[in-house]
Amino acid sequence: MKDIYILGIESSCDETSCSIVKNGREELATVISSQIDIHKNYGGVVPEIASRQHVKNITMVIEECLEQAKMKMTDIDAIAVTYGPGLIGSLLIGLEAAKTLAYIYDKPLVPVHHIAGHIYANNLVKEMHFPLLSLVISGGHTELVYMRDHLNFEKLGGTLDDAVGECYDKVARVVGIPYPGGPQIDKLAHIGKVNYKLPSPLNDDSYNFSFSGLKSAVINLNHNEEQKGHSLNKEDLAASFQKVVVDTLCKRVEKAISEKEIKYFVTAGGVAANSDIRSALAQICDENHIEYSFPSIKYCTDNAAMIASAGYYYYINGRTATLDINAQSSVDLY
Ligand code: KG4
Ligand code: ZN
Repeated sequence: MKDIYILGIESSCDETSCSIVKNGREELATVISSQIDIHKNYGGVVPEIASRQHVKNITMVIEECLEQAKMKMTDIDAIAVTYGPGLIGSLLIGLEAAKTLAYIYDKPLVPVHHIAGHIYANNLVKEMHFPLLSLVISGGHTELVYMRDHLNFEKLGGTLDDAVGECYDKVARVVGIPYPGGPQIDKLAHIGKVNYKLPSPLNDDSYNFSFSGLKSAVINLNHNEEQKGHSLNKEDLAASFQKVVVDTLCKRVEKAISEKEIKYFVTAGGVAANSDIRSALAQICDENHIEYSFPSIKYCTDNAAMIASAGYYYYINGRTATLDINAQSSVDLY
C-alpha cells in the first residue's frame, strides 16, 4: 500500500503548530511555537493577542516543518487542520493557512476536531485498539469518551462547568503561581501534605464532572486565612487539591470500566501530563487488566502531530471538506 503523508496544522488556542505524519503513526517532523511567555503577563490566554501571534508565526512554522521533514508540499497527500473547538480568531488563522495550501497545491483538506486530535496523540505512542475509553483532560475540556472504532466517538460524560485544567490554573492563581499553573501545582503536591479538607465534586451516579465548587472552596479557604492574617501553605494546598482531582477522575474511569467493554485506555490533553493522575490511572488499568497508553509529555498540550495522526483516519475514510468550511468555536465531537 502507498504511504500516506498528512501535513497537520493546529492553532486553536495559544500554540501555532505544524507536523508531518506518515500513515497516521510515524511522526516525521513537528514544529510548535508556544505563546505561553506572552500570555503569562496577563494571567491567561488573551484571544486577540493569540490570533495576532498565529498570523506572525504560521508561515514560518509550516516552512520549518517541511524543511525538517526534508519534504515539499508536492510530497504531501492531504492537509489536516483543527477547525474547532477553540478560540475563533486563533482557529481561523490555521484554517485559512490550510485552505490556502489546499487550493494552491490542489490537495484534499481534512477538518479535524480538536478533541479527536488530543485522543490521537496516543496513537503516536502505541497503536490504539478498540473498544477504547479515553479521559480527555485539558485547559478547555474534561470528557470521558468511548470509542468502538477509529473516529467513532461516544460521549459518556463531561464537565458541567470548569474544565479540570482551568481549575488547576485558577487554584494556582489564588496562591500566586503564574499561568499555566498546572505543572507547578503538580510539583508542589509532591512536597506538601493533604492537610486541607476540600469538597469532592459531584458525588452522583453519572459520568459527569464539576470543578467549579472545588475552585470556589479553594478561593474561600484562601479568603478565610487572609482574614485571619494567615496565608495558605502552598504545598499542602497543592497536595490536598490534587488528591481530590485524582480521586474524582479515577472514580469516573472506574465506573466506566465496570459498566463498559473496554480493551484499551488512553488519557489526553494538557492535564494528562500530571504525574499523580498518570500513576493512579495506570494502577486502575493494571488492576483491571486493561492495556493503556499515555501521550508523550510534549504532546499532552496542543500540537499538530496529534491533528495529523487523527487526520490520517479522517482522510482514509473520505472525510474531507470543501474550501468553504468555516471554523467553529464550539462544536460537538459526537
Ligand atoms: O491541552 P491544553 O494545551 O489546553 C487545551 O487544549 O484546552 O492543556 C493546557 C492545560 C493548562 O490548564 C495546564 O495548567 C494544564 O494543561 N497542565 C497540567 C499539567 N501540565 C499542564 N495540569 C496539571 N498537571 C500538570 N502536570
Ligand atoms: Zn487542547
